[in-house]
Amino acid sequence: MKELIQSLVETVGPSGHEGRVRNLLEARIGDAAEMRVDRMGNLIALRRRTTEEKGDKIMIAAHMDEIGLIVTHVDEKGFLRFGRIGGVMPATLIGSRVRFVNEAGTPGVIGWEKWLRSTDKPEWKELFIDVGATSQEDSPVNVGDVAVFDRPFETLGQRLVSKAMDDRIGCAVALQTLLEMEDSPNDVYFVFTVQEEVGTRGATVSAFGIEPDAAIAVDVTDTGDTPESQPFPIALGKGPAVKIMDSGMLAHPAIKDWMIQTAEELGIPYQREVLERGSTDARAIQLSRSGVPSGCLSIPCRYIHTPSEVVDLEDVTHSVALLKALVSEPMVI
Ligand code: CO
Ligand code: ZN
Repeated sequence: MKELIQSLVETVGPSGHEGRVRNLLEARIGDAAEMRVDRMGNLIALRRRTTEEKGDKIMIAAHMDEIGLIVTHVDEKGFLRFGRIGGVMPATLIGSRVRFVNEAGTPGVIGWEKWLRSTDKPEWKELFIDVGATSQEDSPVNVGDVAVFDRPFETLGQRLVSKAMDDRIGCAVALQTLLEMEDSPNDVYFVFTVQEEVGTRGATVSAFGIEPDAAIAVDVTDTGDTPESQPFPIALGKGPAVKIMDSGMLAHPAIKDWMIQTAEELGIPYQREVLERGSTDARAIQLSRSGVPSGCLSIPCRYIHTPSEVVDLEDVTHSVALLKALVSEPMVI
C-alpha cells in the first residue's frame, strides 16, 4: 500500500490538470472495474453488483486534484507573479520549490520582496517565482502555466508525508477498496473527481450523471493533536473520522449512523468529526438533483495545504477496511 501511496502522491496534478493522476489510476484499476472518463475529466470506475438481489447505487468520491499556483505575470527580469489554485497559504511558500506542469517539468523557487525582514508577514503581492530566467523572453514558462509544491514523499515511522495527501490518500483508499472488495449487492461507482480544490466542480457534474442512491466522499480532515492546537478531538492513529458536520454540509444522519454502526460491528477504531471550516465533494453530491444522502469518511491529516501533509498508515488501512465493509453489504439507511 505504501508503494501505491507514494506513486499517487508524487504524481503532479493541480486542479484542471489531473490527467497524469487519472492515467495512473486507470492503469492500476485495469480490468477490475468498468471505466469511463466524463467530459470534465472525472474518472468513473463501476464495480457492478455480483448478487441476484439488487442493492443500491453507491457513489464513492475522492478527488484527484491538488492545490497549486498559476502564473499571472512575467516581468522584464523574468520573475513570475502568481495566483493560487485552491487554498494555498502565503506563509507556506517562502523558500519553497515548485514544479511546473509542462513537458520539461520546469523547477522554480519562491522568493519574497522582503527577504530578511523576517518579522513581516508575507503578502501575496510580495511573492514571486524565480525560474532562473533573466528576461521575459528567456522565461521557460508563461502566463497561465501552473505549478505544484515539489517535495519528495517521506515516511516518519508509521507516518507518511507528502505535498498531496489531500486527496491522493483518499484516492489510494478508494482504489484499494475497489481492488479488494468482493461480492456486493450494490453497484458501486468509484469516482476520482477533478477540481475539488476550486469548488467541488467535478463532483457536481459526476453526481448529476450517476444519480446515486447514497454517497460517501473520502477526503482528509484536520487534527487537534499538535502543540497549542485548537481543541479538536481528532488525532493521527486513532482511526478514520466519520464526518457529522463541516462548514459546507450536515452529513445525512442515516449515513453517519451506518458508518459508525459498521465500524463498531467490525471493531474498527473511528473518530467523530465536526469541522468548522472547509468542506468536501460530499457537499456537492448531497445537493445534486433532488438530493443525495451523503457522508464523508475522513482521513486525519496534519498540516493540510502545506507542502508536508502528514497521515498515519494505520488510519489509512482502517479506512480501507471500513469502506470495504460499507460498500459490500446492503445499505442500512
Ligand atoms: Co484540500
Ligand atoms: Zn481534499
